[in-house]
Amino acid sequence: MIPESFIQELLSRLDIVDVVERYLTLRKAGANYSACCPFHSEKTPSFTVSRTKQFYHCFGCGAHGSPIGFVMQYSGLGFVDAVEELASQIGLQVPREAAARHAAETTRKAPLTELMARATKFYRDQLKASPRAIDYLKRRGVTGEIAARFGLGYAPDDWQGLAKVFPDYNDAALAECGLVIVNEQGRRYDRFRDRVMFPILDQKGNVIGFGGRVIDTGEPKYLNSPETPLFEKGRELYGLVQARKSIHQADTVIVVEGYMDVVGLAQLGVENVVAALGTATTGMHVHKLLKQASRVVFCFDRDQAGDRAARRAMEASLEHLVDGKSVEILQMPGNQDPDEFIREHGREAFQRLVNNATRLSEFFVRELRKAANPATAEGRAAMVEEAKPLLQKIAAPILRVQLTKEIATLTQLSQAELEAQCGLKPLARGRLAAAPRRRVGTRSLEHTLLQHVLQRPEWVVRVPLDMISHEVPEGAALHALANAVEHGELPGGGMGQLLEFFRGRPEETVIAAALAELAVEEPDMGMLEQVLNDVVERLRTLGVEREIESRKHELTAEEWRSLLAQKAAKIGRVD
Ligand code: UTP
Ligand code: MN
Repeated sequence: MIPESFIQELLSRLDIVDVVERYLTLRKAGANYSACCPFHSEKTPSFTVSRTKQFYHCFGCGAHGSPIGFVMQYSGLGFVDAVEELASQIGLQVPREAAARHAAETTRKAPLTELMARATKFYRDQLKASPRAIDYLKRRGVTGEIAARFGLGYAPDDWQGLAKVFPDYNDAALAECGLVIVNEQGRRYDRFRDRVMFPILDQKGNVIGFGGRVIDTGEPKYLNSPETPLFEKGRELYGLVQARKSIHQADTVIVVEGYMDVVGLAQLGVENVVAALGTATTGMHVHKLLKQASRVVFCFDRDQAGDRAARRAMEASLEHLVDGKSVEILQMPGNQDPDEFIREHGREAFQRLVNNATRLSEFFVRELRKAANPATAEGRAAMVEEAKPLLQKIAAPILRVQLTKEIATLTQLSQAELEAQCGLKPLARGRLAAAPRRRVGTRSLEHTLLQHVLQRPEWVVRVPLDMISHEVPEGAALHALANAVEHGELPGGGMGQLLEFFRGRPEETVIAAALAELAVEEPDMGMLEQVLNDVVERLRTLGVEREIESRKHELTAEEWRSLLAQKAAKIGRVD
């Protein structure tokens, strides 16, 4: 395998015009170059090469692609050979060893996953054999069924218990995946001893880490796997695999602090629950969660640590907010955590708390009021200062306007004054109302979006991806693009670069087709942004309508008002 980075480097150094000219004689035709197509027989040239797009396209036979594609097609070479050929033309060495290392890296995780699976099975078997651990779980109200659902286990009270399942106890991989600790003298022992074990799964259902709780009391109460090649704490959510179906059904995900909160709530029938694994809520968590459901409710214990955590969750959420989605904060009453609360008060009472959670916007304003006194000029000034960095983070345009208005009133400024004070740039959609509208035509919305986003991939962040189905090929391509942009993987440069990036991936065909159409049409860049906004608006309006339809029986009066206001704002803007 040749590393993606090398392909992108190669393409950034090549010029499609030079490459094609090695094989064909090109004539300048306007901004592009043309020739008789080498791939079908013709008398008038319909083969076009675009330097700005780094892409070739034949209007006659539809052939198209990047410099690599051209060499493959022209010389009949395979991908690797075409890359070799092009690299040698400009004196670059294809990094074969790096490629081998890369391949080794990805396969290396596999045996670790395997070890974790074997350890999980061992712990589960040990639980069945430990009346003490079973009794502890029973006392906490956990049934066998729920224990099985979460794969709970028991690590025996034994320094080298795992030696029973791993005959090569000295295998370095056991330490690497965090199951075995090697001390300074080189002695090895099990990390988890005499603990109830909570396996942590990744999205695919592989065990990547454990949390282990002492039985009854002891320190530390929970011991967790360290960060390993499999387990990166800021990314993972405990219970997601088990909760996924229920999250989709409820279109809501509840985020709690502890393992036992997830298990305890599931035991009493609240299954759409995950935990952030004892770490602070990160932007990554919020982002992941908002992909799963349109409503995320964070539960925090009502103590100092919980209040701090709530504030951090708010900050982490601001930049990931999407209009039409809702992040809410539930501060548990009394001194109970969700597990204790539901056992004492029952499922309905807990659901009521969730339904009455505080919307992030409200929490935001409440936090500001706590920070300063709006009754004095100094207090109001301090409030503006406090609000500034937070408002700047908000990516959801409608919500930002709503909050700006509210805070402007509170601080006795006009909306424009507050925006100026906080350095808030006017939002793109502001211009939409005045601009003439263009019909999107008969294409699907996804198709239109894809074409536009392909010309400016960074704009994909403005697409409401949650409303775009993976089922439609163009939708899947949009998700793939967003994913690549989000991970900073997408190459700059022309369409050829983009096409190569998707080579061999499932989205390749649909992206290649959309790029080919773009090569035919010279897009009106001035219209681009406007059309994008237009389509995005339509999708959002549809989304709100759908939400109203699907939730009309369970909405509170306040939710009704808010949804209708959102819809009115959107429709008003589109027409
Ligand atoms: P809590 O102390 O609130 O525990 O820690 P809990 O979830 O209510 O646990 P039970 O009900 O007493 O069994 C919340 C979370 O913080 C992390 C764990 O992820 C725990 O679930 N934690 C807590 C640790 O990692 N280590 C600890 O020693 C304590
Ligand atoms: Mn608890």
